[in-house]
Amino acid sequence: MAEASEHVGVEFEAGICTITLARPRKKNALTVAMYAAIVAAFAEARARKDVRVLLMRGSEGVFTAGNDLMDFMKAGELGPQSPVAQLLSHLAACEKPIVAAVQGPAVGIGVTMLLHCDLAYAGESARFHMPFVNLGLCPEAGSSFLLPRLMGYQRAAELILLGEPFSAQVAHDYGLVNQVLADEAVLDRARAAAEALTQKPPAALRASKRLLRAGYADRVEAAMASEYEAFTAGLRSPEATEAMTAFFEKRAPDFSKFE
Ligand code: COA
Repeated sequence: MAEASEHVGVEFEAGICTITLARPRKKNALTVAMYAAIVAAFAEARARKDVRVLLMRGSEGVFTAGNDLMDFMKAGELGPQSPVAQLLSHLAACEKPIVAAVQGPAVGIGVTMLLHCDLAYAGESARFHMPFVNLGLCPEAGSSFLLPRLMGYQRAAELILLGEPFSAQVAHDYGLVNQVLADEAVLDRARAAAEALTQKPPAALRASKRLLRAGYADRVEAAMASEYEAFTAGLRSPEATEAMTAFFEKRAPDFSKFE
């Protein structure tokens, strides 16, 4: 059985492993314990022959606010052994299709994980945001390679350097999600896609997914290695301390003193 966390639901049913992020009071911000639970769910889902598809979803009206910023302030590093890195390895290497259903805020890794999903559906309320630079950090999850590849350099630079939130429609226009639906329809659409995938010949599905990603799997791994280094340097920087302290103090950060 997958490792339990009170803030992550894991359900195995009819060939689908559904992973539900469920810490709504903190906008599903991902703690170390939550990563551990998701990692355990991935390990079990990948190992079990009866599981054909993984489905990632948030709770009502929120996908995830990304990494818990308090954990970021405590951790001081993002190494390849960290729980978040273990999740990223699973996401990048998972042989089985991953489907995502997004409603409300999807921040940080809540966006970059979609680059590793095979199908992603967004509700109209979805609000995507990669505020890495605003936080004194840099892109992760291989996104420094995957974003320009997916949407072109200028769009990737816009989303990363300006670090402003963007709508479900923009996410669709930029190729990050397959479809934008009414909020009440998004989970049903994702489930229907997952169910359709459970009916496919599994070896052909796995081979096709592997081939679709084969041309760049090494590049993603290399990007992640460089990102871990730069991200850790960011986490230890006074810029990040100022940004995250400002978030919890509910004030605007002041970067004017930094060079
Ligand atoms: N880490 C820790 N706590 C977080 C969090 C995060 N990433 N995101 C939200 N929270 C907490 C808030 O501190 C707040 O806690 P409080 O009720 O004890 O004050 C609670 O969750 C609700 O957040 P709030 O900001 O009031 O909700 P909102 O609806 O106004 O905004 C977000 C939602 C997601 C847009 C906003 O919370 C946000 O930008 N969060 C930070 C996202 C982020 O920078 N993530 C890291 C990416 S690398």
